[in-house]
Formats: sequence, C-alpha cells, structure tokens
Amino acid sequence: MRLDKFLCDMQLGSRSQVRNVIKKGLVSVNGVPVKSPDWKLNEKQDIVAYMGETYTYRQFYYYMLHKPAGVVTATQDRHMTTVMDLLPAVCGKDLSPVGRLDRDTEGLLLITNDGELAHKLLSPRKHVEKTYYVECSGVLTAETINLLENGVDIGDEELTRPARVKLMAQSDGSYAMELTITEGRFHQVKRMVQAVGGSVTYLKRLSLGTLCLDDGLPKGSYRPLTEKEISDLKQLTTITSA
Ligand code: URA
Repeated sequence: MRLDKFLCDMQLGSRSQVRNVIKKGLVSVNGVPVKSPDWKLNEKQDIVAYMGETYTYRQFYYYMLHKPAGVVTATQDRHMTTVMDLLPAVCGKDLSPVGRLDRDTEGLLLITNDGELAHKLLSPRKHVEKTYYVECSGVLTAETINLLENGVDIGDEELTRPARVKLMAQSDGSYAMELTITEGRFHQVKRMVQAVGGSVTYLKRLSLGTLCLDDGLPKGSYRPLTEKEISDLKQLTTITSA
C-alpha cells in the first residue's frame, strides 16, 4: 500500500494534506523518515509514525452517533447542519451514515466506511430489527396495537411486515411505545402510526440489530464502536436471512 493512502485511510487528512506532511519529512517508516508519498509499505508490519505518533493500520471505522433533532442525515448540505458535521475530528472521506433518520428524529445512527456491512444492514432481505421509542397522540388501543404488529397499509404495494409493540407508561393523554420493525421504508414509523389514526410527536431510535444506543452518550456526541459491537453486527448480518 502507498504511504499516502495508508495515512488517508487512517483518517489523518486528505490526500493532499498527508502528502504535504510527508514531503516535510514528518512521517517515518520503521524509524526512517520517508519523503515520498508513493512509498510502498507493508501496512500489516511496518511501523508508521505521523508527526511523532505511531499508527496501526485500520481499513474500516465505525462510530455510534446520538443524533439530536434538527440535523439532517446526509454527508453534506448547503444550508443545514448534517450528522457528519457532528464528527469533525474523524470526518474523513467515505464515512457515511447507515440509513436515514428524519430531521426531527433522535437516537442511534451508525456511521462507517464499511460499505459491505452498511449494505447488509440496510438490505430489505436481511430484515434487521430497528427499535424506536415512539410518543404519539392517543391511538394505542388493543386494536391498533394488533394492526401495527400484524401489518398496516401505509400506501405502499405491500402491508408492513410484522412488528413488535411494547406499550410504555402513558401520560397526559399521549401514548408511548417501543416499536420494533424489520424494514426501513421512508418515514415508516410515522406512516404506520398515521395509518392507525394517530400522529408521532417524538421519535428516537434505540437500536439497530444488535447495536443499542449507549445510555451514557449525550445527544450530539459520538464514540467508536467496541470490537464486540462490531463483531456482533457482522455476525448478525451473516445469520439474519430472508
Ligand atoms: N421512521 C420514521 O418515520 N422516521 C424516522 O426517522 C425513522 C423511522
């Protein structure tokens, strides 16, 4: 692998930024300064130091973001703050959100440059579970819960797939539930609640497959996934089937 690609993959800067640093002699390989960006290294063995810090090669990065309301799920937007703007320190090329949360939806968003995992998690054939905490206007009767669980007509060709509802304590005439779905249709939760005569007043994603929003992660913050969280997600996508 070329030295400049290694440093870009490590999210240390753009190709031109890392090249400048290399040319200034601030990068060494196995203790020897290297000034050629196209230097070929063995990324699994060579010890690369960038401005005095040594780095072990990683191809893929995985972050959990606690998305706040008011930011859009996009990699860039001319007018609005995007979820990627909330990860400035790690925001390198190829990192993108897995799936989409509406602007007013909060909660768990996975951000990665592992396109294969993202693709599998989003694949309609994999039926990966997503759990949302939903507050809505008063519609949650035994009948509407039954409809939500067994499939509702949200205006698409097919009814929604079976879902799970866990009714939560309710207050001041509004209702709250945890809704687990295995699809990712556009505005799906809001449309499901509408289909049974209500409207969502607050929506937060709690989990995506095996990955759960970290209770200790403040809104607007992010953290890298642990090795276990990454391997559990990978394992899930190999066993979850049509
Ligand atoms: N369903 C919705 O309606 N909105 C979201 O943001 C996510 C799921």
